[in-house]
Amino acid sequence: MELKWKSQPVNVLLGCVVALCFCALCPAERLCTVPPGPVTVPENSTLDVEVVKIDSSNDVELTLTVNPEDLFYLKGNALMVKKGLDYEFNSDGVGAVQQRRVHICDSKKVKNSVSVSDCKLSFFSLKVNEPVEVLVENVNDNPPNFAQSHYVLEVNELTAVNSSLGLIEASDVDSEPLYYRLEPATDKYFRLENINTPKIIVKSILDYDVVQKIPLVLHVQDTLNGSASNEPFFTSVATITVQVKDVDNRPPWFQPCLRTNLGIAKLCVSTGYRGKDGPLVLEPGPVFAKDGDKNRSEASQVTNRDQFAVTQVTIEVMKKSRNPPRFEKERYEGFIYSNSVPESMILRDRSTNRPFRVRARDEDFAAGTNPDVKYEVQYSSYVNVTTDGFLRAVDSATGEFGSAALSVQVIPAVAIPSPSNVGYRPATWRCWVW
Ligand SMILES: *[C@@H]1O[C@H](CO)[C@@H](O)[C@H](O)[C@H]1NC(C)=O
Ligand SMILES: *[C@@H]1O[C@H](CO)[C@@H](O)[C@H](O)[C@H]1NC(C)=O
Ligand SMILES: *[C@@H]1O[C@H](CO)[C@@H](O)[C@H](O)[C@H]1NC(C)=O
Ligand SMILES: *[C@@H]1O[C@H](CO)[C@@H](O)[C@H](O)[C@H]1NC(C)=O
Ligand SMILES: *[C@@H]1O[C@H](CO)[C@@H](O)[C@H](O)[C@H]1NC(C)=O
Repeated sequence: MELKWKSQPVNVLLGCVVALCFCALCPAERLCTVPPGPVTVPENSTLDVEVVKIDSSNDVELTLTVNPEDLFYLKGNALMVKKGLDYEFNSDGVGAVQQRRVHICDSKKVKNSVSVSDCKLSFFSLKVNEPVEVLVENVNDNPPNFAQSHYVLEVNELTAVNSSLGLIEASDVDSEPLYYRLEPATDKYFRLENINTPKIIVKSILDYDVVQKIPLVLHVQDTLNGSASNEPFFTSVATITVQVKDVDNRPPWFQPCLRTNLGIAKLCVSTGYRGKDGPLVLEPGPVFAKDGDKNRSEASQVTNRDQFAVTQVTIEVMKKSRNPPRFEKERYEGFIYSNSVPESMILRDRSTNRPFRVRARDEDFAAGTNPDVKYEVQYSSYVNVTTDGFLRAVDSATGEFGSAALSVQVIPAVAIPSPSNVGYRPATWRCWVW
């Protein structure tokens, strides 16, 4: 008992010393401390996870005075998270949590003795507000997404290189930037603007005749080199069909024609048409043009007057002859005076001085006169014929001819010819039509 009584004052004394010391330092002295600066927790996996340990002595009582959305609780000296905090989405009625401020209030019941001698038992408490900044760290836990799984793009053929067909972007609540790639990577016609900009760019000129539809696959990944690290990463895919549209860039082409290229321009060369015998039939076929644009069939080129085609139709009109030229008589007789000088006219009869004339009729002509008929004398070196009518008949067009016999009687120079002087110079003459 004595011992007990002895020790009691010592205890009290000690208590008072502690209190005094404390009072000397307080109230500026903190009763608890948290590490300075914000505390970071990775999102999602935060259920019952310790955010921070509060450094305090045993007789300090901790309470949460500001606890936003009731997200936190105290477990001994530890500040804990009550649920999974999601950086991006609302879940369980709790908003996306990126940052919260928790206030911890510590209070201590202290025996306050005014003097060591009459260690009066009275209490006072200190309250200190200790804020803790909690930052939720974004974790890549969502995949990138395309708005559609399939896209259809249209492009006019001949669209200039480096033109853009459109931007097909994915969205990802976690990550920026995203990394894209186009497949097939070696596509001849399209490329991406760059790895972060999924703009479909024309890489080379498209020709509707060559390609009408191009399938592509656009890949997106939220980490550049995901497989190389241990961090989670996500990918997504969209398919694209590019439809090439036929533009009106060609004139009509006469058919048949031979296709040739002139640089990137295409021509189709027709050799023209040729008419034939009988009812008008053209070779190699009727005059016919087809639009050079594969999917167009414009009867005429209205929108572009520069796009036209010219061909050539040759119609050779042949003279068709049903009848050869024919002399009016089979046998003619002419007269000439024996003393006639060369180039004298042969006479029609003895009594008059009218010149002798033959005429070949051609029944193909209504008037009987074929202007192409030429006359000539055959087998006689004595008799000739003038161009317009007497003894030469040539149809230069057909080569047809008719012939008649001619006897020229040489009569004496005197007015009355005597039979002894009479001589004959026979000749045949021809007329023909070439
Ligand atoms: C994070 O939480 C969201 C929604 O609560 C869930 O969809 C997702 O799978 C979680 N991610 C991880 C890595 O736990
Ligand atoms: C297209 O763009 C690329 C890269 O910007 C450039 O090198 C090339 O010269 C461009 N081509 C044309 C035809 O503009
Ligand atoms: C991924 O990154 C590693 C290290 O930086 C590198 O060696 C590897 O070639 C990369 N892979 C690809 C596909 O970029
Ligand atoms: C081809 O022409 C037809 C008829 O004019 C049209 O319906 C079709 O869309 C065209 N196709 C292309 C690929 O331009
Ligand atoms: C007949 O006339 C032709 C030209 O018209 C001439 O070339 C030819 O020499 C003439 N013949 C005679 C025999 O005079």
